[in-house]
Amino acid sequence: MALYTRLTEMLGIEHPIISAPMAFAAGGKLAAAVTAAGGLGLIGGGYGDAEWLEREFAEAQNTRVGCGFITWSLAKRPILLELVLAHSPAAVMLSFGSPVPFAPRIKAAGAKLICQVQNMEHARAAVDVGADIIVAQGAEAGGHGLVRATFTLVPEIADYLAKAAPATVLVAAGGVADGRGLAAALMLGADGVLIGSRFWASAEALVHTAFQNAAIDADGDATTRTTVVDIVRKADWPKPFTARVMKTRFVNEWHGREAELVEPTLVEREMNRYVTAMQSGDPDNTGVWVGEATGLIHDVRPAADLLQEIAEDAEHLLKDKARGHTKVG
Ligand SMILES: Cc1cc2nc3c(=O)[nH]c(=O)nc-3n(C[C@H](O)[C@H](O)[C@H](O)COP(=O)(O)O)c2cc1C
Repeated sequence: MALYTRLTEMLGIEHPIISAPMAFAAGGKLAAAVTAAGGLGLIGGGYGDAEWLEREFAEAQNTRVGCGFITWSLAKRPILLELVLAHSPAAVMLSFGSPVPFAPRIKAAGAKLICQVQNMEHARAAVDVGADIIVAQGAEAGGHGLVRATFTLVPEIADYLAKAAPATVLVAAGGVADGRGLAAALMLGADGVLIGSRFWASAEALVHTAFQNAAIDADGDATTRTTVVDIVRKADWPKPFTARVMKTRFVNEWHGREAELVEPTLVEREMNRYVTAMQSGDPDNTGVWVGEATGLIHDVRPAADLLQEIAEDAEHLLKDKARGHTKVG
């Protein structure tokens, strides 16, 4: 038995699993490993750095991968879309901002257009621009997002798509880290999942092992949604997006005191502290970008192992369900 869904069919992949285009963390190695294992890997285009993107596409070594952009940031440097399209990506994902200026170009280039959405308004906008795949991202997710939870957002968008755009494929994101999450997402009406945090804790991710170890030690209570990590990085995130990160000493110190982070010398000092600790692998003094799924992460393994296990466990769970069992574990 394999999990054959509308997502595997549309993308021509074996397992209904996409790895998230995590800024700084999802490079070519991770994306290629996920694709080679039967999913689709996305390179994290993030805030847009041409040199970094070229290097990471080279790391993917002609494996069929896609790329994701932070849309409001891409709008500042739209030329980066052309750079990515020149690599014939399988898909381009847009998240956090209006897809209108970029959707036609992506579709005309023959790449699947993936729009990650955080609420119904975004879902309707994604349908309007002709998204091939909509990723419904719940607030459990690591990194940026909004407040709707995966468990209600996914079925609500599934119902909406069934009426408004039945050919559009739906993917669930936010809190999926194992076979239970994939099986549940399919039951909620999704055709597959997009996984970030679990692949962030993989051997191929561009993440310092000290941060991965901090996530392994933490349970799911250890994260929060905040803006302090954006304020100190001077990342100009539009309201109302916030970032889910671990409640490190740095985050605890500033969360709730954002208004104080206006004095230039103070911001400069805290930015240096954040960046230095990010580079040296000091979780206390920076942001550790992982979602609530941190409570389900107990090791760092090759992405192919993780993907295989998630797909197999989901298949077994769904088969047990079909036989009338309710066994989980
Ligand atoms: C470290 C990290 C960085 C992320 N960066 C991006 C990004 O640059 N662009 C984006 O669209 N989503 C980004 N996300 C969010 C993911 O696309 C996805 O929605 C999320 O990881 C799914 O939830 P999960 O972390 O529980 O698997 C990031 C997530 C993480 C954990």
